[in-house]
Amino acid sequence: MKPTFLITAGPTREYLDPVRFFSNPSSGKMGYALASAARDAGASVILVSGPVALRPPKGARLIRVESAQEMYREVTRCYRDADIVIMAAAVADYRPEKCLSKKMKKGRSALSLRMVRTPDILASLGEKKRKRLLVGFAAETGSLVREARRKMGEKNLDMIVANDVSRRDTGFGSDYNRALIIDKKGTVTRLPRMSKDRLAGIIVRQCLRNF
Ligand code: C5P
Repeated sequence: MKPTFLITAGPTREYLDPVRFFSNPSSGKMGYALASAARDAGASVILVSGPVALRPPKGARLIRVESAQEMYREVTRCYRDADIVIMAAAVADYRPEKCLSKKMKKGRSALSLRMVRTPDILASLGEKKRKRLLVGFAAETGSLVREARRKMGEKNLDMIVANDVSRRDTGFGSDYNRALIIDKKGTVTRLPRMSKDRLAGIIVRQCLRNF
């Protein structure tokens, strides 16, 4: 039987008031490409997506969310149906402690905000993994392999895809990515710059081989 993929994509938005939020430049292209590649491989796909300007991949079950907390709730709810989980979303690590119910007025002085941690979705999935295959992404601006290995251990992952987001020609927002994949045995596969569609195909095939 073909496995069910649970894939996350895009940024999250952490609201400060009804019209302002903290976010990041993730376009969702990598996650959507993964959802399409998994569907093309004949698998069932659940795609939990932050706000993006992309057309939903046909045949995937799309669940839209905004905040990290919402993503946590939906991913946790869908987890029991999932065999392979790929967390490609750029989840915010912090959110404003309070979200005001009315638009904040500007004052004359500087503004200090207290930010609190959001749930680490992937780490919580790693704690109750059982037979599932868990794949994370690591967007780094240095020490790619070391950071990726650390995250893999901390979050109990089977595979991690790491890319250097300080490069302009790949990563956030781009149609291209230059990534390396580290598998459970610690083997590092360095891939050349390629389209996110092609990279998605490689990741999905590797997941299916290891499942
Ligand atoms: O720790 P870092 O954010 O770099 O880890 C990256 C991986 O963890 C990604 O796969 C991302 O989707 C996931 N993540 C998560 N929940 C968070 C932060 C990151 O699931 N709060």
